[in-house]
Amino acid sequence: MGLRTKLTEALGIEAPIIQGGMQYVGYAEMAAAVSNAGALGIITGLTQPTPEDLRKEIRKCRSLTDKPFGVNIAILPMLIPADYDAYVRVICEEKVAAIEITGGSPRKYMAQLREAGIVVIHKSATIKHALKAQKDGVDFIEIAGFESAIAGRSSEDDVTTWVLVTKALEVLDTPLIVSGSATGRQLAGALALGASGLTMGTRFLATQECPIHENVKKFIADPANDELSTTLVLRTLNNATRVSKNTVAKQILSIEADDTIDNKEAFKLASGMKAKSMFRETGDVQGAMWSCGQSVGLINDIPTCKELVDRLVSQAEARLQNAYSFVVSPGSKL
Ligand SMILES: Cc1cc2nc3c(=O)[nH]c(=O)nc-3n(C[C@H](O)[C@H](O)[C@H](O)COP(=O)(O)O)c2cc1C
Repeated sequence: MGLRTKLTEALGIEAPIIQGGMQYVGYAEMAAAVSNAGALGIITGLTQPTPEDLRKEIRKCRSLTDKPFGVNIAILPMLIPADYDAYVRVICEEKVAAIEITGGSPRKYMAQLREAGIVVIHKSATIKHALKAQKDGVDFIEIAGFESAIAGRSSEDDVTTWVLVTKALEVLDTPLIVSGSATGRQLAGALALGASGLTMGTRFLATQECPIHENVKKFIADPANDELSTTLVLRTLNNATRVSKNTVAKQILSIEADDTIDNKEAFKLASGMKAKSMFRETGDVQGAMWSCGQSVGLINDIPTCKELVDRLVSQAEARLQNAYSFVVSPGSKL
């Protein structure tokens, strides 16, 4: 058996699952492991210090897999001043299968990406932004609800995935992907609602191949670290970001709550470099602010990417087949 959707068809992948871009995690090893497992692996473009480093990372990924993979670009010029044009140029020159754009508008790059034959996925946190991305002509829209590990959200956008996805499916014509999940039940739910697949971030952190410190994986897989173990920081700076509710996150929240301190002080604790060192070197899960979705409450193990993707697909198949039993013809008895 298997699952076939607009996403698997457009990308030539086996499972309708995307590993979302993850700063300081989405290296070639991660993307290749996910793609080799039959889903879509994604290299995080801005984790590479320069566009030429991104080119090397794409080529490294190509040496690790012959399956399709993508690159994520978070267009956040105020937060990350990067040469976005040059990064996108490299992505087009290297002709990766897909680009996952988040933060800003993809409009400026659409013609270039089309010419390079790249599938364009836009991650939107609101219906307003999804409608704009649709107007720009993207191929897929990922909808990221309140519970997902997303950064830079407007402080007003506290809408859960259950409502956001349903509304998006009603108002958009563009195929939709549900972002922020960890299980086959959610995959079945997404497909049953009418979406074309799932994007997961936090779930892929706790996999054997994920190139981060073992402590972080164990922390994520610990049942005590559940769906109540995340929080939204930087709300007061209109930059709401869902993170692990650890020591640093609590310090940030207390700065934000203190009228005598300039809120911008919180940004100092939100340093990306500390997160990089936590993921890559120290494994000190309390010592840096790091993105984590409420889906952490659904994660209790550290499988290989292949075990995970296979499990999600078979769980989803079982749920979808079971769902047929609820459909009855007029006059038949339960
Ligand atoms: C550690 C981490 C880093 C992330 N970094 C990025 C990023 O650089 N760009 C981006 O578009 N999304 C980023 N995300 C969001 C993911 O791509 C994905 O949308 C999100 O994790 C889905 O929610 P989930 O974690 O509950 O599955 C990150 C998520 C995590 C967990």
